[in-house]
This record gives sequence, C-alpha cells and structure tokens, in this order.
Amino acid sequence: MKKIILLLIGLTLSSQSYAQSVDYREKAAKLVAKMTLEEKASLCSGETAWSTKAIARLGIPSIFMTDGPHGLRKAEGFDFTNSVPATCFPTASALASSWNPALAQKMGEALAVESQANDVQILLGPGVNMKRSPLGGRNFEYFSEDPILAGTIATAYINGVQSQGVGTSMKHFAANSQETERMSNSSNVDERTLNEIYFPAFEMAVKNAQPWTVMCSYNRLNGVYASESPYLLNDVLKKQWGFKGFVVSDWGAVNERAAGVDAGLGLEMPASGGFNDKKIVDAVKKGTLSEARLNEIVIDVLAVTLKAKDSHKKGIVVDKIKHNELARQVSSECIVLLKNDNAILPLKSSLKKIAIVGDFGKNPRYQGAGSSQVRPTQILNALTELQKLAKGTQFSFSTGYNTAGETNDAQIAEAVQNAKNAELVIVFAGLPDSYESEGYDRNNLDMPAGHNKLIAEVAKANANIVVVLMNGAAVSMPWKNDVTAIVEAYLGGQAGGGAIADVLTGKVNPSGKLSETFPARLEDTPTAMDFPSRDGNAIYGEGVFIGYRYYDKKKIEPNFPFGYGLSYTTFDYSDITANTTSAKDSDEITIAVKVKNTGKVAGKEVVQLYVHEQESEVARPENELKHFEKVSLLPGEEKTVSFKLTSRDFAYYNTKSHDWVIKSGKFDVLVGSSSRNLPLKQTIDIQSTKPVKVVFTRESLFKEFKKAPNSVAIYAQIVQSFTGSTKKAETEDEKKAAAFFEAMLADMPINKFMLLSGGKFTEESLEAILKAVNQN
Ligand code: BGC
Repeated sequence: MKKIILLLIGLTLSSQSYAQSVDYREKAAKLVAKMTLEEKASLCSGETAWSTKAIARLGIPSIFMTDGPHGLRKAEGFDFTNSVPATCFPTASALASSWNPALAQKMGEALAVESQANDVQILLGPGVNMKRSPLGGRNFEYFSEDPILAGTIATAYINGVQSQGVGTSMKHFAANSQETERMSNSSNVDERTLNEIYFPAFEMAVKNAQPWTVMCSYNRLNGVYASESPYLLNDVLKKQWGFKGFVVSDWGAVNERAAGVDAGLGLEMPASGGFNDKKIVDAVKKGTLSEARLNEIVIDVLAVTLKAKDSHKKGIVVDKIKHNELARQVSSECIVLLKNDNAILPLKSSLKKIAIVGDFGKNPRYQGAGSSQVRPTQILNALTELQKLAKGTQFSFSTGYNTAGETNDAQIAEAVQNAKNAELVIVFAGLPDSYESEGYDRNNLDMPAGHNKLIAEVAKANANIVVVLMNGAAVSMPWKNDVTAIVEAYLGGQAGGGAIADVLTGKVNPSGKLSETFPARLEDTPTAMDFPSRDGNAIYGEGVFIGYRYYDKKKIEPNFPFGYGLSYTTFDYSDITANTTSAKDSDEITIAVKVKNTGKVAGKEVVQLYVHEQESEVARPENELKHFEKVSLLPGEEKTVSFKLTSRDFAYYNTKSHDWVIKSGKFDVLVGSSSRNLPLKQTIDIQSTKPVKVVFTRESLFKEFKKAPNSVAIYAQIVQSFTGSTKKAETEDEKKAAAFFEAMLADMPINKFMLLSGGKFTEESLEAILKAVNQN
C-alpha cells in the first residue's frame, strides 16, 4: 500500500520533490537487510572508473559521478581528451575572488543542469582545501587561504548544484595542501590548527549545505591515511558535524579497505577489480570487521544512490549560449583590478590605436590541468571581444612568446615596435599550462622569463602599459612598478576573454578581491622553509598563521594583500555601530556600517569584517575574517550593511577542552575593504559564560593556580605551605622578595615544590590544595 501511495506521489511530483519526500535511509536499511554479505561488500566499490555497482535482483541502480568543480568532464575511462563538450566556468581561485556566494550558487545550478543533461548523478567538487603555500599545484582548484571565504563560497556552490537534484563531492578531506607525494605524504597538523584553519570550510558546508558525498584525500593526517581515519571520517565529519551522506575515496586513496569501512569510508573509487570487496568479506568472516558496521556504511552509500537516481530529470537540454553568457558574467565578477594609475582603465573610447601583446590575448589560458580539465563548448579570446566592444579603436596584435612561455629577439622586437606605434599597450601574460597542474607543485612564484621580459621591454617603449594576467595562483611581479595597470583575470573559464574585454572597456566595473595574498617574494611566505615537504612528512609548523594571518603577524608587506581589489569608483566607510558594547558570549551581536559610492559610476564593494582579540591566551592572528557582504551601489548611493556575530566569531579552539572557547575580554571588530584597509573599529567587551573547566593535577604549573576559581585563597595556601610562614609581605623589601619568588616559581609544576621547599611542602599539602581547587 505504502509503495502504491509513494508511486502515485511520484507521478504527480517532480523527480526532485518526490526524492525529498522519501526516507532513503529507511529504504536503504530494508534493502541491506535482504543482501548477502558479498552483495553488501560489492556496494563498497565502483563498477567502472566513474560508476557504482547495480544489484539487479534488488532493483538497486548504478549511479554515475564525474569531475569536476568548474565544468562537467564526462569521459570514457580515463581518456579525458574525449569528454563531452561542457561549459567551462572560472576555476575556484577565480570564483572565490568574486566574494559573491549568490553567483557561486547560480554557477552551481548551471553545472547541475549540464550534469542532469548528461545523466551524471554526482559532480566531483568543490575543492575546499586551504592554500597553505602559493606554490600548491592545485591552488587554481581551491578557493582561498581563508576558511570562512572558502566555506561560504563552497556552501553556496553545493546548495546550487544540489538544488537541481545532483549531488556534490566536497573534497579533499583533509589537510591536502600539496601535490608532491600526495598519495603517501603525512600532513602533520596540530589539533588547534586543524580546527581553526583546515576544517572550518568543510564544517560550514556540511552544516549548511549537506553535500551528498565528501571525498577523503589521498594523504595521511598525522600518520593515518584519511581513507581509514576514524577521527576524520567518523568522529569529526559524522558525529561532530552531522554529515549525512557517504564518504567516497579519492581515486586510488584506499589503503586497507576493511579498516576504511570501520573508519567510515563508504565507497572506494575507481573500481578495484573486486579484490578489496573480498577483503571486506574476509574481515567480516574473520570477525575483525563487524557486519553491523558494514551495514551502516552500505546504508550511507545506498541512501544517496537511491536519492540520486530518483532525482534524475529526463529530457534536459543545455542552453549552451546561455551558459556561456553566465560563464562570462561570473568571470567578469572574479577579475581583480590590482593597479590602475592615472585611471588608465577603463579604456577611453577616444583611443585610436591599442597594441595587444602576448599570445594569451588570442589563445587564452582559461583552466588548469588534471582531472578538472573540461572540453569547452567555445572559447572567447580577449582580442576578438575587445574588437567587438571598442569599435572606434584599432587593435594590432603581437604574439610575444610561444606556448611554453619562451620568447626570442624577433618576437620582442616586433612587440616593441607594435607598442611604439600605439597609444596604449595591453600585455597578456601569466602562467602557461605546464606550470599549474594536479599532480605536482610549482617550485617558484615566477612567471616564465619570456613573459617577464616581454613586459619589461614593452614598458620601455610605451608609458601606458596595462598587464592582464591569466594564472590560477599568485605570481611574483618584478615589473610591478614599471606598468600603469594590472588586471588579475585568473583562469576565467571559456568566456574569460569576453569578461576581460567587459572589464577593460568599463562595460563591467571590476569588483573582485583577492582571495589569497600575493606575496612579494617566495622567501616571505609562511612555508618558505619547507614546501612542499619531500620526506613523507609535511610539518605544518606555521600553525594557524597561514596566508594573511602570517604576513600581518610578521608585518611583511605583500605585493597585494588578501581581500584587496580596486574599482572604477570609490567607496567610503562610516558610522560603525553595535547593538551592544558589553555582551555575554551567548548574545548575538549586530554590527552595522555605512558604505557609500563616492565616485561617478555604479559599482560593487565587498565589505569585510575582521575580529581582533586584544589580549589572547594563545598566539592568535592579528585579524581574522569572520563575515563579508558584496553590495551594489549606484553613484552617490549609501547603504547600511549589518552583520550578526555569534560566539564562534570570537572564540579560539582550546586543546584542553577540545572545544571552541572565549576568553573574557575585549575584542575589536574591524570593517573595511581589504585585510590591510580596515578604517572602522568597534570594541566589544565579551564575558564568557562557559569558562574552560580546568582539572588541576600534580603537574599543574604554579601560575595556573592563579586562574583557579578561588585563586586568592589557594595561592596563599600554596605560598604558605612552601615557605612555612603565614606572614604577609609588608615592607618594600618583603614585597620585592615575594614578587621574585612568584616570578621564579611561576612555571614550575606544583609537585616540584615538594623537592624544593626543604620538606615544608609535603604530600599532604599537595593533596589538600588539589582537593580544594578541584572542588570548584
Ligand atoms: C583527484 C580528484 C578527482 C578524482 C577523479 C583524483 O586524482 O584528486 O580531485 O575528483 O581524481 O577524477
């Protein structure tokens, strides 16, 4: 009867809302109860490189999953050259620079439509790993060096894709920030750093978007493979954050399969020829893996499989032109204007002759290499698009360098001549394909020598030089002071050339902001000493100080800071207010600021809110991004932007209580246009209502007793037991001696007092003090 009702509902509802009405875990559990042990194990690995196994006798379907984050790459096996044509959107480092979650959501919806049209149930993305070093080979595929920015964009992207009945696979969980030795390397990260830096993007997206799957990474975390880490997959992902989908291995990330099942790994990909399925069966038979645990894991996989299949929409046709237009719109919001001396941009319509120099002007670099590589439906180049938009201007083109980035005297001479004959030069440069790829890291920040030389030489020939960069990650800029304007276009996808033309001509006012710091030199970077690690152990010694957190603390001037980006208009920040300046950690705090467009054209500004703790208990970054909002403003228009702050915005991760904790005290809330331009400040006094419960032990330090609830009495008791005197310090000399005593012994474990007090501080004294202090 229930089946008939559900069927009727299914006929009247769309596939998606039908899917929402079904309890797939219940359905999956019933099916699992009917399976043989071998059938259960079979569902724990793929059938092919991209699909799961079906079980015909139980009506269990196979689902198809494929990359990738910025476009569909559906191919036969591993031959990516023949993937289906699909819209190539800007890659993740570009998308994050839009600081626009609504746009990321729209892009996600479009990606899902293309997935539906190609019968793909799960799209393998987004990648939310932190950019620990600018040299990370896959930085173009990751959002940011900041977890809040990455988590916000990821959440919107996932919600966008999944709103159309297609699942996502948020990856690569966790601490996968280098490509070198990626399948074996151990990321050695302390607990606080994991929780404050490497986890939150995953955590935010799990809590706010519930990706259908999470992909575990290849690497080990503190010695344990992510694919068999109960800490990562079970304790953190499932128990702490409430993840409801299944974990899929990165392709080939499995180590010991049965240990993986026990830890919480649902699906092994790609197909492993059945030998790992057999290992699962053997482990259950031997009793080293419980069948109940296997059942739980299979239910995870099956529930998503059933939902995914039911959510498939038949007859979807992709409007390729519309998607190309969307890709262009997204890309234009990702472009970051880094320098614009003499307001040389937007290009004046009065310009008669512009020289376009550099192969990328005609043959754009628009995506990175590896599993995310899409076969685009078309490619727009900046030269052609500029010609369409600036009809009154003549454009002359010089290649400048070859595809490897090398140049020669003849190419330079031609470009220089071209530059001399023009009123303005636009040089297209950046990183060639081979410089950025999955599978290996960069070994320096430099663009090819040919690109740098071309810029330097044409800059001598013409005073009006605009450099447009196409690259997936930060580069050094030895010519920074010799050029008039710098436009960071990132890897803008197939329509990136059109987006560049839109921004250069002023059709679109640039509004991107850097989602990563552009350091001046490699030596300045937080991981300069040892990245990538090559000895099997990556020591995350910089701790929480990655990206701007490091440059700010060390007072290092980067080329361009995190959050930075110019506009063709100007914005003024004023009137910061708070609903309270003295609050309890349980209170919600509202901060409001006014932002005004003080220029002549409409524009969008990313209002950024950072928090600074005045006196912290542990080493904390100067300022940390907590909220941001992108606002559109007409010339002269002013808007009030409000942010709601909760306790998490002020807290740090405490390794004694294994939880987020606020130390009572003053916090500055800073608001502005980049991590290094925060003109507004509001100080808030926050009272913690959940102080960390400290258990005092024989090894607790003398100074720690000062923080005990009844510290004055306890402290006096300790001093008295040690000195054997009840006399209070009265004279100046006595006070000095007491202060010296305190300073000398501050860092001493309390049990050492027994050894150093000449027998006055006894075992009984210690017991009495611990009893008194732990009672509270
Ligand atoms: C990559 C993943 C990708 C998978 C499937 C792996 O090598 O690390 O990001 O989704 O291949 O193509």
